Amino acid sequence: MIVDLRSDTVTVPTLQMRQVMLEAAVGDDVYGEDPTVNALQELVADLLGFEAALFTTSGVQANQIAIAAHTQRGQEVICTEGAHIYEYELGMMAAFAGVVPRFVPAPKGVPDPLEVRKAIRRSVHQSPSGLIALENTHNRAGGTVVPLDVIAAIRAISLEEGIPLHLDGARVWNALTALHIEPRVMMQHFDSAAVCLSKGLGAPVGSLIAGSKAFIKECHRYRKMLGGGMRQAGMLAAAGMYALTNHQSLLEKTHAQAKHLGHYLATKGFEIDLERVQTNMVYIRLSDAPARLEQWAAQGVRAGMMTEDLVRLVTHFQITDEMLEHAIQVITQ
Ligand SMILES: Cc1ncc(COP(=O)(O)O)c(C=O)c1O
Repeated sequence: MIVDLRSDTVTVPTLQMRQVMLEAAVGDDVYGEDPTVNALQELVADLLGFEAALFTTSGVQANQIAIAAHTQRGQEVICTEGAHIYEYELGMMAAFAGVVPRFVPAPKGVPDPLEVRKAIRRSVHQSPSGLIALENTHNRAGGTVVPLDVIAAIRAISLEEGIPLHLDGARVWNALTALHIEPRVMMQHFDSAAVCLSKGLGAPVGSLIAGSKAFIKECHRYRKMLGGGMRQAGMLAAAGMYALTNHQSLLEKTHAQAKHLGHYLATKGFEIDLERVQTNMVYIRLSDAPARLEQWAAQGVRAGMMTEDLVRLVTHFQITDEMLEHAIQVITQ
């Protein structure tokens, strides 16, 4: 038995999903003529409460297009320490948009709004702040949720200061599930959001950026610059629509699995900050991570290595209870 807990991106398209891909109506999306891509974009814009949305190849592409569309060269992007948009996007905010990050502390992935305010630069001697970006859930912090009151407080600062607020919502579906709220309730606080269909929801490819019509028009240009103009992408969009419609409700169980996994391993002496186990991720501190991962892999259990002494286990809807029990057995052996 293989139990792949490296990430929630390792899901494979189900048979039903493959069927809708096969049957999808398609056209050339660079001309805006793919009916399924258009339908997905409308669905996501409506679901999130934005005017428009744009299909992109990946989460990185969605974030970097949004950053470029919001900012001017030489500006700073205020983001949380460990933010994916900087730590795992290969310096692209500098290489593409010409902007640099300014980190604010974010214990357990949640920044203090006062720190965000302190990070704003206005002086003629400094790079002006061009964008504030939040990440929900926060990947590097362990899939932690940024609560609504913190978002609202940061939104108030963004409006007061006239600085746009972007959400890296690659796993926002998990945050919404954990908070038990509708997407619009969170999204009303943002100028734009990047959301993924291939993390947790099980689509093979794809993310979207959502925002105002004028903003999304700008995003089209940047997507083309990045080589992200796709042609008959409706087959991928069909998978995305299927994932959104059918797989969101499966997240709750993946959260329960992660909690079970985290709590059980903690009782067996593994170093786990259980306060961070809020969605579908369990981070474990292990002094001998590479050797342990190798041992587990030899018995069919795959874990993700974040650093030399930090590993993660991520649940997803293709992990059955039996697979989870097998993983627990192997890890606790
Ligand atoms: C928070 C966050 N943002 C963005 C991304 C990038 O997504 P992709 O791998 O589709 O480019 C990831 C990937 O795991 C992520 O965790």
